[in-house]
Parts: sequence; C-alpha cells; structure tokens
Amino acid sequence: MNTPPTFLRRTFTGLALAAFAASAWSQAYPSKAITLVVPFAAGGPTDVVARTLAATMAKTLGQTVVVENKLGAGGTLAAGYVMKAAPDGYTFLIHHNGMATSTALYRKLAYNPMTDFEYVGQVVDVPMTLLGKKGLAPKTLPELVTYVKANGRGMNLAHAGLGAVSQLCGMLFQQAVGVELPTVPYQGTAPALNALLGGQVDLLCDQTTQTLQHIKVGSVQLYGVTTLERIPSLPSAPTLSEGGLKGFEVKVWHGVYAPKGTPRAALEKFNEALRVALKDPTFATRMTELGAVIVPESKQTPEGLKTWLQSEIDKWGPVIRAAGVYAD
Ligand code: MLT
Repeated sequence: MNTPPTFLRRTFTGLALAAFAASAWSQAYPSKAITLVVPFAAGGPTDVVARTLAATMAKTLGQTVVVENKLGAGGTLAAGYVMKAAPDGYTFLIHHNGMATSTALYRKLAYNPMTDFEYVGQVVDVPMTLLGKKGLAPKTLPELVTYVKANGRGMNLAHAGLGAVSQLCGMLFQQAVGVELPTVPYQGTAPALNALLGGQVDLLCDQTTQTLQHIKVGSVQLYGVTTLERIPSLPSAPTLSEGGLKGFEVKVWHGVYAPKGTPRAALEKFNEALRVALKDPTFATRMTELGAVIVPESKQTPEGLKTWLQSEIDKWGPVIRAAGVYAD
C-alpha cells in the first residue's frame, strides 16, 4: 500500500485534531457561568422574565446564568455591548420589541439586528397596561382622552427611553389622541413605575409583569390593556380599542440573542435549555401570575425568532417614521 505524501498526512492529522478539540469543547460546554444581559433596570419587566428564565435554564445547563443589567439608550447600549462581546458561548442578550423598533428610532444604530447576531429563540409575550397615577381625575379611558386633550401640556408621560416598549406604547397613545405630551425618560420601567407610584409622573404604559400587583391593590389608575382581546389576568379590564382607541395594539415579545460567530454547539445547548425551561411547570406558573404567555414551540427556535424580528422591523419602521420620532 502506498503511503500518502507527508503534507497530506499532516493535513489529515491537523483536521482530526481540530475535530477532536471542537467535540471536546462541545462536550465540556458550558464549563463556567454564562452571562445573560438585560437592557433595562433591575426589578422591571424584562429583568423579571430574564431572572426567572436564567434560574430555570441553569438547571439544564448545569451552570449559573448570571443576569447583568446594562442600562441606557432605550436598550440599544446592551444590544451593542453583546454585539461586541466575545462569541464564545458565554454571553447572551434578552431583548424585546426594541430590537426591531430601534432600527427606525436610531438612524445611526451601531449594529444591524438582522446580521450582527445569532438567534436562540423567543420566550414569552406580555400585554401592556395604560396607567395613571392614583388620584388622577379621569377614571376611564374616554375620560382620560378628553382630559389629555384639555390638559396635555401640563401632564407628563414616563417611559424607559427611545427603543423601550413603554415609549412605543406612549407614542401610539399620543398619536391616537392627537396630543403631544411632555415625556420623562427612565432607564427602565422599574424606576418609571416608582415615579408614577410617587406621583412625580402622570401616565405610564407598562407591562403586566410588573403592573398587575399594583393594579390589583389600587395603587395606580388602570385605563385599559393594550391587546386587542381582554386578558385572563385582568378579565374585567377593557382593552384600549374597546375604550375608543380603535385597533390600538402593542404586545411585548422577548427574544434571546448571542454575538455573531458564537459556536453552533453553544447555540444549540442554550436553545435546548430555553425550550426545557419553557416547559418547566414552575416557570409556567410564574409567567401566568405575571400575565405573560409562553410562545408556541415554533417561535422557540432561532428561525422563529429571526423571522419574527424581520416582520416586526417591517411593521414598526413605517409607523415610527410616520411619527417622526428619532433618537439622533
Ligand atoms: C423594562 O424592563 O424596564 C421595560 O421592558 C422597559 C420598556 O418599557 O421597554
């Protein structure tokens, strides 16, 4: 039998060693704690979903998933941070609709959500609620609309920065009513809700994940939910559409991303841990308590997230450009 030339023997040996190293790496992954970056303040809606998810996924991964809050610029700072992070399988991002809306709000965005990331899958959908501070004169949505039309310039609306869903919802409310309100940005709706509870701001649109408890004890005034159908967690609350803002709809969705170039084996293991977590009964019960709905299996995939993200960019881009709201 002829012996292969030396250069071929070396090439085969090199390839075999590389394949062995890759397989050993995938077997050992994850071998240390993983970081899940959250773009908004601790204690707020995105943070609550992230921390519950991180604790549940850790059970499958056999490693801690550490939540790190990177605040600023309506969530774009965190996305930019993860885009530049080492693609080694140890940094992931959880983000919501802002991943899509920021492409229209920021004309000079530091990243392209469709090309600069890897996709893991979607997590939960969350309805929003339009709230006023306790004691605000209007008690229903029609009363609020009349009141805002008469007193809008003297009122204010809190949100979590350009790129936040609270900002998107507030912008749609102003458009629907035809009044521009002074706005107050925070680095998440956790501090924004505190300001509403403290009476420093008048209005806030925020997710049930943190508003349900306050609505139930009456520490805020509820004007309606932002979904087209009423929601099981607040069955007697009218939708904003029912209250007169026809067709008003904002639903918050969450996706998990990784830096471009993250090894396939890491993406697959993280996706598997995500899908296991979304079937975990304790996770499901907690999400129901918060008014969040686990997405169907078809959306718990990289392709499901990527396709959805593109559809959301296509949906919100024209709306934001028509509103003429820009961060830069
Ligand atoms: C948060 O987690 O603080 C909110 O999701 C911010 C937002 O309104 O988008």
